[in-house]
Amino acid sequence: MQSSFSLLHSSRLTTLPSHGRNLTHNIKFRQPPISAVAVSPPLRPPPVTHSMPPEKVEVFKSLEGWTTQSILPFLKPVEKCWQPSDFLPDPTNPTDTFFDEVRALRDRTVDLPDEYFVVLVGDMITEDALPTYQTMINTLDGVRDETGASAGPWAVWTRAWTAEENRHGDLLKTYLYLSGRVDMLMIERTVQYLIAAGMDPGTENNPYLGYVYTSFQERATFISHGNTARMAKEGGDPVLARICGTIAADEKRHENAYSKIVEKLLELDPTGAMMAIADMMRKKITMPAHLMYDGKDPKIFEHFSAVAQRTGVYTAQDYADILEFLVGRWNLEKIELGLTSEGREAQDYVCGLAPRIRKLQERADERARQMKKQDQMPIAWCVRGNSGRSHLVT
Ligand SMILES: [Fe+2]
Ligand SMILES: [Fe+2]
Repeated sequence: MQSSFSLLHSSRLTTLPSHGRNLTHNIKFRQPPISAVAVSPPLRPPPVTHSMPPEKVEVFKSLEGWTTQSILPFLKPVEKCWQPSDFLPDPTNPTDTFFDEVRALRDRTVDLPDEYFVVLVGDMITEDALPTYQTMINTLDGVRDETGASAGPWAVWTRAWTAEENRHGDLLKTYLYLSGRVDMLMIERTVQYLIAAGMDPGTENNPYLGYVYTSFQERATFISHGNTARMAKEGGDPVLARICGTIAADEKRHENAYSKIVEKLLELDPTGAMMAIADMMRKKITMPAHLMYDGKDPKIFEHFSAVAQRTGVYTAQDYADILEFLVGRWNLEKIELGLTSEGREAQDYVCGLAPRIRKLQERADERARQMKKQDQMPIAWCVRGNSGRSHLVT
């Protein structure tokens, strides 16, 4: 999950990052009411499409052998993968045993605060909109799955990555359902709205941009699930802690794969890759669920982001930390060979960005602190005060 805390999608005057190099950034325009946004794409600047020069498709063609050797091994064989049922009450047990397991689950979640469930639900909804992310990756020129079952290594990676991700939403959703702490109908509606709304991270059918985006996002999800794991442990649910920690480990593995692809692009095409990183950072990395809507709250994404910020699950500081981490991971400050003047300009921008973001975030933090608590919690996903015990039929 995560990011762009400044991105709004309400009926007010809204600032969105531009989606093209030739467009002025931070264009202001008026969006339609949220009821319209929920069923049709919001007003945006004209999208930039297919921004990768056609000859660069060859870069990805030439990397197919490398992808097979160096990226596909990041996938785990199905038989060695964990599955949601490893963490859930076993419905094939005798009825009493199954109910005991469900009761134990509900007892473990009793002391976790409502705010915790708000961020866990937001994370789960983000994971559950997986079809959107596979669609996004399959918009990318040179790496898309041309047939739906293509044998090419880029397509094999994308399908198997999707299959690994598919377990995350499944497991979290079932656990939340059994906990009795959340309103499943509101959650299901939110997921349906979100998948219908889609996402536009500004990747322009360009795999350079696409893999920078996924590198950033996988690290963001790693951080977020790691924090929900820590908080579950502190709140008395070691099983939920293990669930979130296990998902975080998957995200880390995915981050390693995607950032290795960008590392390779920096080696083969330093200027092209450096400019792609700068381009995505200028646009800001938008959270995949930024078009989230529950049918009621036009500011639900802002409210969810505010709770994630306040609980420390995913904060504005994390955004700058991720950027700094990736600058170090890709050794961006040290790259000299093969950089044109445009590439050096992009390098200066990216390498000097984190301190500037931190300054802006300090002001955002202050604003978040000043928000009244009730303004941050009108999220209908939570069943307030439900102990999780009273509704279980025994
Ligand atoms: Fe995930
Ligand atoms: Fe992932």
